[in-house]
Amino acid sequence: MPNKDTGHSTGHLIIGGCDTLDLAMRFGTPLHVLDEMRIRSACRAYRQAASAHFGPLARVVYASKALCTTAVLRIVASEGLGVDVVSGGELHTALCARVRPADIVFHGNNKTPRELAEALSAGVGRIVVDNEEELTRLASLCAEHGTETDILLRIKPGVSAHTHEYVRTGAIDSKFGVALETGEAERLLIRAASVPGIRLRGIHCHIGSQIFGPDSFVEAARIMTGFMADLSERDGILLTELNLGGGYGVRYVDEDTPDAPEDVFRPVAASIREICENRAFPFPAICLEPGRAIVAEAGTTLYTVGSVKHIPGVRTYVAVDGGMFENPRYALYGSAYEIVRADDPNAVRTDPVTIAGKCCESGDLIQEHIPMPPLGTGDILAVMSTGAYHYSMASNYNRNARPAVVLCREGRAVEIVRRESYEDLVRNDCIPEGL
Ligand SMILES: Cc1ncc(COP(=O)(O)O)c(C=O)c1O
Repeated sequence: MPNKDTGHSTGHLIIGGCDTLDLAMRFGTPLHVLDEMRIRSACRAYRQAASAHFGPLARVVYASKALCTTAVLRIVASEGLGVDVVSGGELHTALCARVRPADIVFHGNNKTPRELAEALSAGVGRIVVDNEEELTRLASLCAEHGTETDILLRIKPGVSAHTHEYVRTGAIDSKFGVALETGEAERLLIRAASVPGIRLRGIHCHIGSQIFGPDSFVEAARIMTGFMADLSERDGILLTELNLGGGYGVRYVDEDTPDAPEDVFRPVAASIREICENRAFPFPAICLEPGRAIVAEAGTTLYTVGSVKHIPGVRTYVAVDGGMFENPRYALYGSAYEIVRADDPNAVRTDPVTIAGKCCESGDLIQEHIPMPPLGTGDILAVMSTGAYHYSMASNYNRNARPAVVLCREGRAVEIVRRESYEDLVRNDCIPEGL
């Protein structure tokens, strides 16, 4: 069951030692709540497993797209993780969080010239080049800035991970990276190896997200390592770094069975080692980029029930004060969640209901047809495992203000992102003269 501690005397849902009903009262709803120690222990588990199986050169880099706030980046950096960014905004946030530039990896399938220039000025540790035009652009920016930069090339290894098609990224039909099977990757690497200003360090792949079991990761690692050995033998290019991306599955509902990081890393490391030994290729420095696995289960969203609408013979809608503007995942992927009543997470579930948001879209649902205990106006609902790809995907649709994010630890709750105000909503609006 995801993250369901209850208070001994009250029976209420407790997060990081804080009573969720008190949090709802103090900070209002909808509210994103994070358990700091769960983030820290996920960071530690990934770091320890990485160094145990891939050796002292292994790096764990948090994919900040999962949840990018200065406080969260500070926590992961304090646990010794690097940070992966995919935009100038994420880079800026990482720098504000005082992440060391050398520990930042810059990704993206279409980085703008401005973003590339910002990455160079900041001195990020690695830029993951996505395609040929980007290599050309980066080389001329290096010349303009009188600098050099370390790069990896993003490769599509041709692995079709078993996950939702929107989060599958390793097959040939993907907008990310260059393909192996067409020879494009090899041609581009040969070119990159001799471009002035570019220090080619290695290759990168990310096969998808919310993946269970080690098989797809092992396959990707096998293909990527084999390709590194091919390059060395065929083209005399010795790459020393292999970044295998993220994608490790987490528990949203009971049926999800996440793997401990060591249960994935052990077979991945074994397959890399076997290829290296067979082909006399040096074991590369491995980088891993978990995002969801670091923050998802540390997050919970609290809502207040506004109304309950029974439609006889059809269904019962329970409307809450959030919705797709702060959690678009059901609308995007039909994602499953565990939802509880915060005052009694173990209350007996009776009738199936649909939890609906407040946006003007019929598809603005948080969950459909899930058995819940009796619900009425004013009840606080807690949606579990909402730490990843929720706040970071939030919008202002219908001019709803994005919720606050609070961090809980040992019974103390602090705001790490303030709730947006109406002033925030109109801050960038302009009224042209004469209107
Ligand atoms: C390049 C890269 N690395 C890491 C991740 C993190 O994936 P996850 O949050 O599933 O671990 C992503 C997600 O899109 C990605 O594109």
